Amino acid sequence: MRKKMIAGNWKMHKTNAEAVRLVTQLRRMLEKKPARKTEVVVCPPFTALVPVAELLKGSKIQLGAQNIFWEEEGAFTGEVSARMVKSAGAKYVIIGHSERRRYFKEDENIINKKIRLALKNKLRVIHCVGETLEEREHNLTQDIIINQLEWGLKGFTADDFKRIVIAYEPVWAIGTGKTATPEQAQEVHAFIREILNTLYGSQVGTRITILYGGSVKPENAAGLLSQPDVDGALVGGACLNARSFFQIIQASEGA
Ligand code: 13P
Repeated sequence: MRKKMIAGNWKMHKTNAEAVRLVTQLRRMLEKKPARKTEVVVCPPFTALVPVAELLKGSKIQLGAQNIFWEEEGAFTGEVSARMVKSAGAKYVIIGHSERRRYFKEDENIINKKIRLALKNKLRVIHCVGETLEEREHNLTQDIIINQLEWGLKGFTADDFKRIVIAYEPVWAIGTGKTATPEQAQEVHAFIREILNTLYGSQVGTRITILYGGSVKPENAAGLLSQPDVDGALVGGACLNARSFFQIIQASEGA
């Protein structure tokens, strides 16, 4: 049985006071109606990790960071290390998000280094992959995915993959309100499993949790999550509101 997961990527949203309010509401909703089959992860900005970690004590909600730097420590003004987010209470870290690829020029080599460091520091990784609209229109989706899985994850063992979750996030569906159809998501998720089995063996692809991300909302969650190879969602906009994030969690529980 693969693990089901609903993770919220808050991106650059929420002050600490707002973060505390959101997580307090979410916690209350999940206390009334616990998620029994779904792991719930919240990924606030760095500044809110510690207060959110405090609030999550005694709850099953897990904490994730949105990024780390690729070096252990040193003179890297403004960066945050794997060890720091771990010490702030994070269990997960998102790596390779398309916004980091686009605005911060992160390539597969950088992503590979970051994942390596995250695993070394006993963090679990949510590794994002996905094609742009232009790539999809040129029929390059599969090539892009193969490239991202081959180079981003190069050198990892079947054991390492136990601590990696993949998030398929078609770039054209992020923050655009355009969602992949359940069939489109299913097709790529199945392809990701096949490639991971080929590249890394030991049923890595069959066993790994694969999330879909890109305009997931309460209205479309059930359809996406009912697909056999969609194990959960990485939610952006809709996770900024406790009610809508909770509804997506409920959709996962019902799937
Ligand atoms: P939206 O849900 O806002 O489209 O964002 C998806 C995403 O990028 C999650 O990482």
